[in-house]
Amino acid sequence: MALRNILEFGDKTLNKVCRPVKDFNKRLHILLDDMKDTLLDAEGLGLAAPQVGVLRRVVVVIDINKEAEYEEDKIIELVNPEIIYTEGEQEGMEGCLSLPGEFGIVKRPNIVKVRAFDRYGQEFEYTGEGLTARCFCHELDHLDGHLYTERASRMLTPEELDEMRGDAE
Ligand code: NI
Repeated sequence: MALRNILEFGDKTLNKVCRPVKDFNKRLHILLDDMKDTLLDAEGLGLAAPQVGVLRRVVVVIDINKEAEYEEDKIIELVNPEIIYTEGEQEGMEGCLSLPGEFGIVKRPNIVKVRAFDRYGQEFEYTGEGLTARCFCHELDHLDGHLYTERASRMLTPEELDEMRGDAE
């Protein structure tokens, strides 16, 4: 298991557009494995390659709706993903491992279908709902250098954050 360092807000790498993966090789597999380890360790729901300093179109997302005994088996690997269909709308709280402790209110579609490649270069489609749909949008935005803060209608106030952590008086 290898953990990678997660870049934080302000690092210019997070604002760059990522290049597609061309070689589905060992190097990609190591990147995906490390990203999964890093995501589980950070207890996040999604992670994009630029967040670990790699400017390639690769993301991992935990599909909380997926039936699996282990958290690790709920992780969806998406290489060169594209959104091909969206439906509905949801407004809710969103956070990012690159902005620890912050949350904002963001509108996203409620259903998001993506087309992507797996680690072996096999094309597939996957439909995410609710939080997973939100995650797909959030992580794919990272690949184009966008952070949710650009899309948030507002950020949570320090008081709201206190309340969320449950340490408000
Ligand atoms: Ni993020």
